[in-house]
Amino acid sequence: MSFILSSSILSADFAHLADQIQTAESAGVDWIHIDVMDGSFVPVITMGPFIVETCRRITKLPLDVHLMIVDPDKHIEAFARAGANYLSVHVEACNHIYRTLQAIRAAGCHPGVVLNPGTPASSISSVLHLVDYILVMTVNPGASGQSFIFETLPKVREIHSMLADAGSTAQIEVDGGITAETLPLAYAAGARLVVAATSIYKYPQGIRQGIQALRACIPA
Ligand code: DX5
Ligand code: ZN
Repeated sequence: MSFILSSSILSADFAHLADQIQTAESAGVDWIHIDVMDGSFVPVITMGPFIVETCRRITKLPLDVHLMIVDPDKHIEAFARAGANYLSVHVEACNHIYRTLQAIRAAGCHPGVVLNPGTPASSISSVLHLVDYILVMTVNPGASGQSFIFETLPKVREIHSMLADAGSTAQIEVDGGITAETLPLAYAAGARLVVAATSIYKYPQGIRQGIQALRACIPA
């Protein structure tokens, strides 16, 4: 598989969450992405460990939990217990990023660090060895359905070469505005973990067709 497709349930119909996740799973998504927002780090409030635990009962796919919250240290254990496999924190939200990433690993999850569009690659240079993935936000965090910010692509390329120089096997994840048009650009820049919400759960022809369209734009 040339890239991991992580479907963000932020655009799913929560009245039919189990059906929507199971349809995405049977159509071949690799991970389920859960966007946790606290109304403080980002303006809106979304989901917490309760929804992670619900997803854990719906699917066996890895759960990729993206924390857009202040002071994430307080909640690492709760998300780990709820069944998160991948747990990412924003470098902008952490006073002690080194300790936070160590705590995520100690809780049994794969640690990831996230950068907002305005945050430079250099901000994570000293923690590359602590992470299994680096999430480069390709929109401003806070909502699905926004347009891809093309100016983030040089940062994906820069982090890709930082990882190569460090001999790291960490992967780059991109999140926001991913479509069949933008995915090839992120892939060419070095991203191998791809998050999509609107292009899957709100695809006009349906979830299955949305996943097929994303898969079709990168050769297997
Ligand atoms: C935005 C979230 C994304 C969002 C992506 O803050 O981190 O995961 O759901 O939505 P789309 O794919 O619609 O841009
Ligand atoms: Zn996300």
